[in-house]
Amino acid sequence: MSEHKSIGTFSAESRRFEPSADFRARARISSLEQYQTLYRESLDSPETFWRRELEELVFTKPWTVLAEGKVPFVKWFADAELNITESCLDRHLTTSVRDKVAIQWEAEPGEVRRLTYAELAAQTVRFAAALRSLGVGRGDRVAIYMGMVPEVVVGMLACARIGAVHSVVFGGFAAESLRDRINDCGAKVVLTQDGAWRRGHVVPLKETVDRAVEHTPSIEKVIVLRHLGQERAPISLKPGRDVDWAEAAAAAEPAAGTPEHVNAEHPLFILYTSGSTGKPKGVLHTTAGYLAGAYLSTKYVFDLRDDDVYWCTADVGWVTGHSYIVYGPLSNGATCLMYEGAPNFPDWGRFWQLIEKHRVTVLYTAPTAIRAFIRAGNQWPAAQDLSSLRLLGSVGEPINPEAWVWYHEHIGGGRCPIVDTWWQTETGSILITTLPGAAEMKPGSAGLPFFGVEPEVVTSDGRAVGPGAAGLLVVRRSWPSQLRTVYGDDDRYVQQYYSEIEGNYFTGDGAHRDESGYFTVVGRIDDVLNVSGHRIGTAEIESALVSHKAVAEAAAVGRPDELKGQALVVFVTLKPGHTAGSELVSELRAHVGKEIGKFAAPDDIRFAEALPKTRSGKIMRRLLKDIAAGREAQGDVSTLEDLNVLAKLSADE
Ligand code: WT7
Repeated sequence: MSEHKSIGTFSAESRRFEPSADFRARARISSLEQYQTLYRESLDSPETFWRRELEELVFTKPWTVLAEGKVPFVKWFADAELNITESCLDRHLTTSVRDKVAIQWEAEPGEVRRLTYAELAAQTVRFAAALRSLGVGRGDRVAIYMGMVPEVVVGMLACARIGAVHSVVFGGFAAESLRDRINDCGAKVVLTQDGAWRRGHVVPLKETVDRAVEHTPSIEKVIVLRHLGQERAPISLKPGRDVDWAEAAAAAEPAAGTPEHVNAEHPLFILYTSGSTGKPKGVLHTTAGYLAGAYLSTKYVFDLRDDDVYWCTADVGWVTGHSYIVYGPLSNGATCLMYEGAPNFPDWGRFWQLIEKHRVTVLYTAPTAIRAFIRAGNQWPAAQDLSSLRLLGSVGEPINPEAWVWYHEHIGGGRCPIVDTWWQTETGSILITTLPGAAEMKPGSAGLPFFGVEPEVVTSDGRAVGPGAAGLLVVRRSWPSQLRTVYGDDDRYVQQYYSEIEGNYFTGDGAHRDESGYFTVVGRIDDVLNVSGHRIGTAEIESALVSHKAVAEAAAVGRPDELKGQALVVFVTLKPGHTAGSELVSELRAHVGKEIGKFAAPDDIRFAEALPKTRSGKIMRRLLKDIAAGREAQGDVSTLEDLNVLAKLSADE
């Protein structure tokens, strides 16, 4: 628990922002009282609350049991049956939403495509039939390694349609990471595409899949979407294994794309995320509870209206994409903008051009992007007409008040409320945020709990701390969209999330709560880093490093970074016969890129004679963090730093 001491103090931010009278007048929840009444109901009479709030979702067998069992193993809507795609697609086909645009897509070079709900449904049904004809069925795992194209949504929904479990792997992960994830979940099929656009270049996704599946015995088929075409992204299909997406879809019989009705607790997807050990965790989400969370939070947090054009800038490979590009917006019948490409290509005006061009009304993005835009300069957003925007959102890490205020002023024109949404891969949907019309916003503070969620800030023995005091963020009771387990490893699930504070879900974050009940999440208190909104386990980085022939030992820590939130600093000791220097620095960065993915390449690599350790042999991470934060690395990377001198000086360890 020694790490918990590092939560520390915080500086109070006193600026307050009220939603405008205009926004309030049209908001779904327009006062604190209204929020509080509903919130109380969600905790005190959950049956009434959920029955009413989920009314428009499709259950082929309605639930009579709201929740069964106790944490860590709770079944939500336990006896219900459904197929999630009927709530996301079929239910809209009998209303005016049928011909509404579901996905409005733009690619980096400027191509635009629009898919109505009717079209998205037709493609999904067809592809579901294609998957079935390839032998994929209920409970089978399907890995998805694709970019931001409409078909990735089709692929996810088609899996759900036939009761298969998708596991999307972010396209920035390297072949080794993809291979490990496929092997962990035993996927039968991978969906991929020839390539995807990124900053004027083609990311060769299929090529990476080819390398990954050399060592994945469970994979029977690779289904390849020709997105960019042979000229821009040349690929070859391996006979017997690789299947052309379009051909498979064309050959399929739509009548064979009927929805598989599954129990509420049937697994919907597995999404791997970093924890405090070297092995990523397969976070498992199930069907009805996840849908309930994604649907209801999207509706209230983004205050959705029929004519919104909603844009979540996350990649579909992260949980934000799952809940707030796919399942949340579609179950609400919303129009989503989807962008395939880099935010600053060809220049820093791209985001704001997209907003003007597509008349985006709700924008949901990450603090790291906001800070990069601040640095790029106010002239970029100023050159565009952003008057269509009415609501802004932030997710992924704490947003510093300066970035919040800039976002409010330069993007929101001072008129758009900002929802700072706290949640995690494990929580499935937003757990803490101040609903946009309900109450005042406090920059830097996520705010109030969402319906059905009971968070608390506690000491390490589980006692609630008073207002203003820092502690551990826990959730007192189960909520519908919580993870159900770590795939294939119930023990790890219990150990990780339910053993720290008896009976409470342990988030791994430090937080404090003010007099009016607003939660401010300070950041991780475990060995997980948040680099540009990407979650990175220090142990994963360390094991990637020690797999390099020159490295004896490695320790990865975070240091505060103005742009990325946290930067990744690694301290390494070398095996005899290897020399520190800039050549080795590049080699090690490339090595981590190859083992995990380029986004995980360390920002600083520092060579040490030895790593500072306690007498019992534990690496003194806190000391390394201080060193990483407080002192610039020596300009000359060939010098070995003597960290033990510092260790000896650090008497309190
Ligand atoms: C961790 C979860 C869930 C969406 C994307 C990240 C941090 C997330 C906030 C916020 C402060 C935040 C936490 C959390 N985090 N949102 N609004 N304010 N911190 O998902 O990769 O599972 O990471 O991101 O530390 O534990 P993730």
